[in-house]
Amino acid sequence: MKKYYITTPIYYPSADFHIGHCYTTIIADSIARYKRLLGYDVFFLTGTDEHGEKIEKKANDAHVTPQEYVDKIVDNAKDLWKSLGISYDKFIRTTDKYHEEIVQKIFNKLYEQGDIYKGEYEGLYCTPCESFWTETQLVDGKCPDCGRDVHLVKEESYFFKLSKYQDRLVKYLEEHNSFIEPVSRKNEMINNFIKPGLEDLCVSRTTFNWGIPVTFDPKHVVYVWIDALTNYITALGYMSDDDTLFKKYWPADLHLVGKEIVRFHTIIWPILLMALDIPLPEKVFGHGWLVIDGGKISKSLGNYKDPREYIDEYSVDAVRYFVLREVPFGNDGVFSESSLISRTNADLANVLGNLVNRTISMSKKYFDGVVVNKKVSEDIDDDLIKTAIELHKIVDEKMNDLHISEALDSIFTLLRKCNKYIDDTTPWILAKEEDKKDRLSTVLYNLLESIRISAVLLQPFIPTTSEKIFNQLNTDERTYESCKEFGKLKEGTLLNNPEPLFARIDVNNK
Ligand code: MSP
Repeated sequence: MKKYYITTPIYYPSADFHIGHCYTTIIADSIARYKRLLGYDVFFLTGTDEHGEKIEKKANDAHVTPQEYVDKIVDNAKDLWKSLGISYDKFIRTTDKYHEEIVQKIFNKLYEQGDIYKGEYEGLYCTPCESFWTETQLVDGKCPDCGRDVHLVKEESYFFKLSKYQDRLVKYLEEHNSFIEPVSRKNEMINNFIKPGLEDLCVSRTTFNWGIPVTFDPKHVVYVWIDALTNYITALGYMSDDDTLFKKYWPADLHLVGKEIVRFHTIIWPILLMALDIPLPEKVFGHGWLVIDGGKISKSLGNYKDPREYIDEYSVDAVRYFVLREVPFGNDGVFSESSLISRTNADLANVLGNLVNRTISMSKKYFDGVVVNKKVSEDIDDDLIKTAIELHKIVDEKMNDLHISEALDSIFTLLRKCNKYIDDTTPWILAKEEDKKDRLSTVLYNLLESIRISAVLLQPFIPTTSEKIFNQLNTDERTYESCKEFGKLKEGTLLNNPEPLFARIDVNNK
């Protein structure tokens, strides 16, 4: 069985996650579920990034220790992922003992082999982003990533020899065209960051304590990004007594990350792996953001609700579908509650919900809910059946390119065709004539079978809804293989009662 290792970034623990935070994780979950559907042995990792100056400051403000602070809020992430149906295989916390020990071992190894050395750092630091900057990288004197103030830090530090690996990295990126996607981000990395010259990276701090101590010089703690990035291998037991998972799943097939952290994943991370002499991940994909009217979703601007409120109000699959469908490949997408409602109404209620409801209701009315197919075909059936049988190929092509929104769109193309097929074949007129009853059975069968095939392919994206559809169809034919064939829904199956999948939301009442 082929393996597939997919990761999300590990999140800074927070009591205030917004819908944008859910974006990476929902996409990763859908890809993981898709690969499982295809029969891959998937390992899906997520977790929390719990060290650093930022967390220490927040804990101080709350008059608790950093450990107490993170312990208290880590469950917020787990609870949010549970509400969203995130099917991760492992949740790593960077305060887990096994992780801390391996980070120390890695730091020691790099020091012993001469890739880490002691020096003095004097420069600019953005605490919210936990990022070092040079004067020329600032934009209007502020952090180029978040626009906030940076401050001068001057301290004895350990440095990691990024410069030593610069040429090797450029060569690697040039030879591995799909390592960074979308390609625009690859060019940005090479031209803006690597080619101007990589400076050695400051990888330890002494002005605060909340981090993993350097074993041979404990007044230093390991720079939080070194600590964080290594989670992708410590979670698999790299350098531990049991590295079975590491041997099985590494290298990662996909690191899915937001565009603002591509830099860490395509410069520092590959160089760290080169220094450790282990293979590089297959791909780092930098996705766009969910924004609000061109601006950031932000707590201080008060422009968002807790994602669980949207889930309670509109259902988990409405939220998942919106996020997956609304943001085109790699670009930014705009979030608003009214666009969430429009998407839910237009696609989920009108196209999908309506189709399932009409089809099952007609089967109940005309055949007492029994699946019948007297195989009286007409030319008009051909296009529908062909689209249904070939759907998995299109979805696979789109998913391989991580064009998730387009994969969903292709499934909805079939669903829209089904609705048009109902309008064209007019089952209610066929039902009026006894000699058209056999034709009617075929029309309804074609619809039920197209719905089943769509539900199979919708499982990775809106799993709860697919489950409801299978229940209404009363079928177990939900494997990937089963969607390559038209005719798997067994005759004689007794359909369950139709139940609305998505209620139309009245915008005026909002
Ligand atoms: N802790 C680091 C990652 C370390 S990985 C070794 C971090 N954490 S984060 O909590 O700030 O962000 C986690 C993920 O959420 C990132 O992929 C980030 O891009 C994503 N998002 C946060 N806000 C977002 C939007 N508004 N839209 C889409 N995704 C965004 O970075």
